[in-house]
Amino acid sequence: MTLVAHRAELLSIPDDPHIAGGEAVRHHPDGLLVIENGHVVAFGDHADLAPRFAEASVTHWPGKIIVPGFVDAHVHYPQTDRIASHGEQLLQWLDRHIFPEEARFADRGHADAVAGFFCNELLRNGTTSALVFATVHPQSVDALFEAALARGMRLVSGKVLMDGGPPDLRDTPASGRAETEALIARWRGRGRLGYAVTPRFALTSSDAQLADAGALVAAHPEVLLHTHLAENHGEIAAVAARFPDAADYLDAYDRFGLVGPRSVFAHCIHLSERALHRMSEAGSGIAFCPTSNLFLGSGLFDIAAADRHGIGVGLGSDVGAGTSFSLLATMGEAYKVGQLRGTSLDPFRALHLATAGAARVMGLADRIGGLQPGQEADFAVLDPAATPLLARRTAGASLGERLFALQILGDDRAVAATYVAGRQAHLRSPV
Ligand code: GUN
Ligand code: ZN
Repeated sequence: MTLVAHRAELLSIPDDPHIAGGEAVRHHPDGLLVIENGHVVAFGDHADLAPRFAEASVTHWPGKIIVPGFVDAHVHYPQTDRIASHGEQLLQWLDRHIFPEEARFADRGHADAVAGFFCNELLRNGTTSALVFATVHPQSVDALFEAALARGMRLVSGKVLMDGGPPDLRDTPASGRAETEALIARWRGRGRLGYAVTPRFALTSSDAQLADAGALVAAHPEVLLHTHLAENHGEIAAVAARFPDAADYLDAYDRFGLVGPRSVFAHCIHLSERALHRMSEAGSGIAFCPTSNLFLGSGLFDIAAADRHGIGVGLGSDVGAGTSFSLLATMGEAYKVGQLRGTSLDPFRALHLATAGAARVMGLADRIGGLQPGQEADFAVLDPAATPLLARRTAGASLGERLFALQILGDDRAVAATYVAGRQAHLRSPV
């Protein structure tokens, strides 16, 4: 087997600093990342490891910081072409901008073209894994999975269940169930792909379809449940009207078996103490999507409340309501949401939420997000001097300051290269 190694400043935050404190930060100013067969063999000081791995061929990245590949805990690939659509809050934005766009994914050729662009855009931004909404069309999942397979990426996705959506975007309980079963069977064990049963949200599925979603999750222990929860006040009022007996929005999902340890709920901005307690008890995870929440005017996620209840949180871009594929930029916006909430998000914790934290809510923390020995070698090479302003701000600065500057000022320009399972998948072109 050929050993390869990368010499650079190394940084990884596999444990949540909110719980583990300063011990969570794994940092080697002059480090060596050793890889064999797409997996990490060693992550440590260059001086210690270089003699042990003298046969490895070494790539040297002076001035750069290697971090685990970013993990986007919630994103919609079919909305790539509707990013930056002006003027509405959630329900009107869906009707005006999103549903017409998603109808185009009935065409497999269109889905292939967007899926390829989307995967490349993730890689340009240093994102190597994601939990992804497709559309109601099963071929939209095939298109995404084929694009991810060709690039070796670890993606999790699923056909959207929405028997109550607009007429040209509707399935039925029977077709939704059969297409989901067929996709799970077709893609099981292929590449690094995973499946998520994906009811769009409580307003676009009948009771029968929500019950089917619960049965699908129960029947397939390897799949996730991925949906939206408590994002917008208009949405929440409509859910309360539709489910008058439910204690709250979460309870509308709970009665169909959709609240469990493999459930990932995007947004969770407006949750009662009861719902937070129930999510914690069930072991469900949250995708916090700050650029989307600000863009749609949905509200300010309360990470302190999630922390009080011990609920796992990962960062998501939520493109197309989200305004950037960059998880660096997303970390910066998460900081600003925290400022408006009176909690100052530590830059090391922000990096954790965009890597191992997101991997944890996806049930993948043993494989990705930490660059620890035995894990898959997905990583981004960050350039703290990517722009003249970044170079000025980071010159001579501490690690924490450089990391924070990358979050506030950085984006795809700060990603010098991206590696997937040890293989180079993106190299920034020279400016
Ligand atoms: N809720 C239901 N569908 C969507 C969607 O596509 N985007 C967002 N942000 N929220 C949703
Ligand atoms: Zn979303």
